[in-house]
Amino acid sequence: MCGIIGLIASKSSPNNIEALVLGLKRMEYRGYDSAGIAFMAGNQIKTVRSKGKIASLEDKLGQSLESTKLGIGHTRWATHGDPSEINAHPHTVGKISIVHNGIIENYQELKQELIELGCEFSSETDSEVVAQLINYYYQQSDLDFVGAVRQALTRLKGAYGLAIIAEDQPDQLIVARQASPLLIGLSDHATYIASDPMAIISYTDRIIYLEDKEYAVLGAGSYQVYDFDHNLRDVTPETIELDPGQIQKSGYDHFLIKEIMEQPEAVINVLRGRIDKQNFSSHLGGLNLPDDYFRKIDRILIVACGTAYYAGLLGKYLLEKMLNIPVDVEMASEFRYRDPATSKNTLGVVYSQSGETADSLASLREMKRRGMLTLGIINTAGSTIAREVDGGIYLHAGPEISVASTKAFSSMSIATLLLGLEIGRYRQLSIERSMEVIQALGSLANDIEGVLSLDQEIKLLASKIAKFGHMMYLGRDSLYPIAIEGSHKLKEVSYIQAEAYPAGEMKHGANALLGDDLLVVFFLSNNFLYDKAKSNLAEVKARTSNILVVTDSEEQDLARGTIDVIRVKRVSDWTQGLIFNVVSQLIAYYVAVDLGRDVDQPRNLAKSVTVE
Ligand code: M6R
Repeated sequence: MCGIIGLIASKSSPNNIEALVLGLKRMEYRGYDSAGIAFMAGNQIKTVRSKGKIASLEDKLGQSLESTKLGIGHTRWATHGDPSEINAHPHTVGKISIVHNGIIENYQELKQELIELGCEFSSETDSEVVAQLINYYYQQSDLDFVGAVRQALTRLKGAYGLAIIAEDQPDQLIVARQASPLLIGLSDHATYIASDPMAIISYTDRIIYLEDKEYAVLGAGSYQVYDFDHNLRDVTPETIELDPGQIQKSGYDHFLIKEIMEQPEAVINVLRGRIDKQNFSSHLGGLNLPDDYFRKIDRILIVACGTAYYAGLLGKYLLEKMLNIPVDVEMASEFRYRDPATSKNTLGVVYSQSGETADSLASLREMKRRGMLTLGIINTAGSTIAREVDGGIYLHAGPEISVASTKAFSSMSIATLLLGLEIGRYRQLSIERSMEVIQALGSLANDIEGVLSLDQEIKLLASKIAKFGHMMYLGRDSLYPIAIEGSHKLKEVSYIQAEAYPAGEMKHGANALLGDDLLVVFFLSNNFLYDKAKSNLAEVKARTSNILVVTDSEEQDLARGTIDVIRVKRVSDWTQGLIFNVVSQLIAYYVAVDLGRDVDQPRNLAKSVTVE
């Protein structure tokens, strides 16, 4: 989704333009359709924008870059108005130039008002309203630059991360935040701003995260942060741990396959120091919940979006077995506006890779408003959700760059099992069950390594799979959420229409879909439901032979009446879902490559969805 970068440096240099462009490139993974920068060139603002990839912006900027010490940049993911140069940011109006992430909800009303005051709009965006409004106030003789921005902020409704420069104020960069992430990076040579730390990690690791309803007035080497009531805030920069090396492809063709292959390491990282073998439990230092609360919890409510939601669904299957308390999972975009029943002992858990997903954040705030205690299962340290939950578990999976989430799903599921161990040992979880979970987790990195060795086998199958126009993923028990996540992954990166069903549910309607153009991916585990699931497979086989079976059974006869069988190792029921899921990830990846898709940045999708 949209990305903001900006800087104000002590010396004018072409390197500052380079830093803006590099920042934009570092945020490419978030998904975007146009990009642009605006910078002080002499005593004027120069704005360069382009539709499409950053490479075309670079073409426009040319080989010999101009010198500047103040600039802002943006990658846009269209919400209001087509992806086009005219709608791309920065929006420069009069002396003012702005970049904006989020959505201005009252933009139509403001636009009408400004048109009546004589302002002429050139784009279809909600964002241009911000530039017009600030420029309008700035023209009023009694307001200076900061005053004009302050005045404009009082008029805006909705979500925004904003960076603003003024042509006649080359020593000031102003930023503001309301429900859209924004951070300030401090270095000896310049002050940076960004919506994503990735954009500036090559320059600094000293960061100030702006909170909602805060703005900051920045100079080269200076910062003043204010709340919206204009009180100066006492903020302390923190040091973040991000290694620019982690955001390279390291020899892989795509980030997606790199991140799939990183899963054994991600398993080790999320488990590191967290297994308490002595007490058959886990060490989770960040939960921040009183021990006696674990005994009082009467329900767990997981809220998330997309793949994080499917990790939550898998969590429901795992946690209900471990804790014997109801676990509900809600899509955050629904939860935030529903009127769901909660109790004071309902534990709210938000799953999020980015920690910035707007619907998940709004749901978290709703849960807190109801007085619920909340935990976050989050990958991105310092993200807004991570900062607002009462406690949580960091995944330590490293940056996930590909839009399609893979390693974060595995790590979220492992964090779920760790949470189950911790809460369970305050309740009824037996030593025997805890040991099963601990042993399963202990061998998981190796088990995943084993599935990854099927890589070439799955690659060879991809062209066979890619011929189908539709796919149906089936599984039972904890393999049902895995089937849903498998279909989600496939449709995201290959654009093949895919859906998922519990295998036992097909006869109630979806059997009607079985036909020539549809491939069934059947997840069959040799677990307590093996015979039931085999009957479901037989029902499908009776209607089509377009079936790819993925199984941990060694039964040879399963191959009859299918296009192929992928065999994985039989592991514990606690972790089998993750084994099958890696197969799904590899299928999605190789099918997308076979079809020539934009694997890491699929069309119409964004990595971090910071708008509703
Ligand atoms: O950052 P989050 O985990 O909160 O993101 C949630 C979803 O937007 C995300 O999982 C999305 O579905 C991915 N594209 C899945 O691959």
